[in-house]
Amino acid sequence: MILEEVTVNLGGRSYPILIGTGLLTRLGEFLRARFTAHRIMVVTNHTVRCLYGDVVEGGLRRAGWDTVWAEMPDGEEYKTLATVQGFYDLALATELDRACPVIALGGGVVGDTGGFFAATYQRGVPLVQVPTTLLAQVDASVGGKVGVNHPCGKNMIGAFYQPRLVVADLDTLATLPLREIRAGLAEVIKYGVIKEAIFFAWLEENIERLLRLERDALAHAVATSCRIKAAVVEEDETEAGLRQILNYGHTVGHALEALTDYRDYHHGEAVAIGMAVAARLAVELGLLAEDRATRIISLIRRAGLPTEVPGQFSAGELVRAMRLDKKTRGGRLTLVLPEAIGRVRIVPRVDVQVIKSVLVRGGVRDGG
Ligand SMILES: NC(=O)c1ccc[n+]([C@@H]2O[C@H](COP(=O)([O-])OP(=O)(O)OC[C@H]3O[C@@H](n4cnc5c(N)ncnc54)[C@H](O)[C@@H]3O)[C@@H](O)[C@H]2O)c1
Ligand SMILES: [Zn+2]
Repeated sequence: MILEEVTVNLGGRSYPILIGTGLLTRLGEFLRARFTAHRIMVVTNHTVRCLYGDVVEGGLRRAGWDTVWAEMPDGEEYKTLATVQGFYDLALATELDRACPVIALGGGVVGDTGGFFAATYQRGVPLVQVPTTLLAQVDASVGGKVGVNHPCGKNMIGAFYQPRLVVADLDTLATLPLREIRAGLAEVIKYGVIKEAIFFAWLEENIERLLRLERDALAHAVATSCRIKAAVVEEDETEAGLRQILNYGHTVGHALEALTDYRDYHHGEAVAIGMAVAARLAVELGLLAEDRATRIISLIRRAGLPTEVPGQFSAGELVRAMRLDKKTRGGRLTLVLPEAIGRVRIVPRVDVQVIKSVLVRGGVRDGG
C-alpha cells in the first residue's frame, strides 16, 4: 500500500518517491507503467538479496521482466570503481541496452554504486532507487548524488544523476539492526533542525514510536524528510549554495569519521555528535538560544545517539580534520549553524579558537 508520495520537481527530470508497505512485490508493476524494455538489472549485495531477492524477483517476473542480478559484496570498502567495472562487464555480457532500467536495491552503498553504474553505462540508463535502510530512504536515494570512493577519499568519483523513481518500502526496515535505525534518525532530526520546526516538534512527540518502527510514524518521518530534501535539491541541484545546509553536523561528523578511520562510528552517529557540537557553537556565537540547543541535543539523545566528542582527540586534531573535509571549501571553516529550530545559517570563516573552546568545554583535550 502506498502511504505517501513525494515528488522531486526538476522539470523534465521530475520523479516520484513512493513510500509505503508491501511495495517490493509491486516493483514489476511500477516499472511496467514507466518502461517498455524487457530486461532489467538489479544491483544489490548479498545481505539484501538473501532477505529480499525472492520477493523482488517474483514480482518482477510476474510483470514480465527478465532479470539480471548484479551482486556486490556488503560493505563501504566495495563502493569502488572495481565493483562498477564488474557491473559493466556483466551488463555487456547480458546485452543490457540503453532502454533497460537498473534497480539499486539496498542501502546507501548499493544506491551510490549502482547509481554511478547507471549514470555511466552507455552514457546513462534509467535508474530506480529502492532503498532498504532508513538512511537511504531519507537521504541517499533522493537528490541524485551517485558515486564511488577512491583510496584518497570518500565519494571522490561521481555524478549528479537523478533516478526515474524511488520506492521506499517501510517493511524492509524490520530486518535492519537498531543501530542502523538510530543512525538514519540522525539525518531525520537534521531535517527538522535545518528546515522545519513543526517536524522537529513532531519528532519530539514521536521519537519512541519511530524507534518501535510504527508504520504510520515511519511513513510520516520518511515522507517529510524526503519532502525537505527534495525542496532543497530543487533549489540547488548541484550544491552551489543552499544544498550546503544539508551538511549541518557533517563537518565535525566527517572529521570524526576520518580520525577513526571510518571504523568506530556509523555516519549517522558521527553526524549526531556534529549536530550537537554545532548547536553548542551556535549558542557560543550568540546565534541560538541555549534552551533551543538543549532541545536539539536531548532529541538526539532520545534517539539513542551520541552527542559528545570522544576524549581521545585534541581540539587541534579535530579542527585540522575539519579543515580537510572537502565540503569546507579551501580549508576555511564554513559551518552550517542553527539560528532557531527549523532554520540554519551558513557561517563563513568561523573563528577556530571559538570552535576549540567549545570542544574543550565539551570534554575534548586542549592542545594542538
Ligand atoms: N548519495 C547521497 O546523497 C548519499 C547521502 C547519504 C549517504 N550516502 C552514502 O550512503 C552510504 C551509507 O548508507 P547506509 O547507511 O544505508 O549503509 P549500507 O548501505 O552499508 O547499509 C548498512 C548495512 O545494512 C545492510 N542492509 C541494507 N538493507 C537492509 C535491510 N533492509 N535489512 C537488514 N540489513 C540491511 C547492508 O547490507 C549493510 O550491511 C555511504 O556510502 C554514504 O556515502 C549517500
Ligand atoms: Zn549524512
